[in-house]
Amino acid sequence: MIRLSKSVIGKEEVSAVTNVLKKGFLGMGEEVQQFEQLLSDRFCRPVICVNTGTAALQLALQGCGIGVGDEVLVQSLTYLASFQAISASGASPIACEVNTENLTIDLGDAQKRLTKQTKAIMPVHYSGNPGDLDAIYSFAKKNNLRVIEDAAHAFGSLYKNKQIGSFGDICCFSFDGIKNITSGEGGAIITNDQSVIDRVKDLRLLSVSKDSDNRYKNQRSWDFDVVEQGWRYHMSNIMAAIGIEQLKKFNSFQEKRKVLSSLYKQFLSGVSGIELLHIDYTEITPHIFVIKVKSGRRDLLKIGLENCGIQTGMHYKPNHLLKYYSSNSLPLTEKLYNEILTLPLHPDLMESDIAFICEKIKNIL
Ligand SMILES: Cc1ncc(COP(=O)(O)O)c(C=O)c1O
Repeated sequence: MIRLSKSVIGKEEVSAVTNVLKKGFLGMGEEVQQFEQLLSDRFCRPVICVNTGTAALQLALQGCGIGVGDEVLVQSLTYLASFQAISASGASPIACEVNTENLTIDLGDAQKRLTKQTKAIMPVHYSGNPGDLDAIYSFAKKNNLRVIEDAAHAFGSLYKNKQIGSFGDICCFSFDGIKNITSGEGGAIITNDQSVIDRVKDLRLLSVSKDSDNRYKNQRSWDFDVVEQGWRYHMSNIMAAIGIEQLKKFNSFQEKRKVLSSLYKQFLSGVSGIELLHIDYTEITPHIFVIKVKSGRRDLLKIGLENCGIQTGMHYKPNHLLKYYSSNSLPLTEKLYNEILTLPLHPDLMESDIAFICEKIKNIL
């Protein structure tokens, strides 16, 4: 079976975790501070690590004071996590259409959904591509909105030669098991807004005031105060130890993801019945490789590939079709949902695997 995605873990991660286990400080401590420092050096901005990308998004919203009664614009075609993070903050996700060429948020559609309650926009960097971020930031400025970038797919991507995460309002990454780097599970919030940093730093530790500084020294606070609802969302030393090792390997992971995606592009360009997303792999570090299959043949191709031992996926079921988030129909998103197919992509794949997969696609179609 050629897997759709997988964690790529070596002896370095095993030994780093073993060292943490031997030291006996498994929770949040020195390793978390070290991982945050490495990320902060990379992006030249403050970074706070948490236990998932979903938690990062939720805390980013709460950190901006967004909650009950507020609305957040977000594309419907995203992982459930983007929607759940918004509703967990108390705000309402407002489902928007996407641009067909790259599946990032359609600002024309978002414009129509603005109300007095709209407080933020959450652009999702689908498959690692931030789309037209300049347009998103000018839309936000014009309408007085915070921007919380869901960059779960985009670790390592560039926008106009700048790293995603190194600029903009608030950027959130995910380090779950199959992301561009992993810490087992995990996430990060990156922003220059010191008030957001100070708030999320406490929020992740049940809102215990200034507990992070004690935790970094493998200690904890005994006498403290709490001024708002917090969450048990901190990262652990075990997770951070994995993340530190993955960061060292990132350049090779990145190169492999780019090479494999460029090969897919080369082999599948011009194949009748298939459309590729418009993505420039010199800038983008892809997390997933998604194609559009035309003429109602997506399911046929999916089954055909599975019969050849090739796992595929569908990123994603649109959230406005879920009972909990149901809203008016989004015709473009619903059409795309019937066309999208995700092909295998992870650094352990070989170039010959991509050639094999593309050959099977051509045969089946
Ligand atoms: C687009 C998107 N947003 C948010 C998340 C949430 O990240 P996590 O799984 O780390 O909670 C994911 C993770 O898969 C994702 O793909």
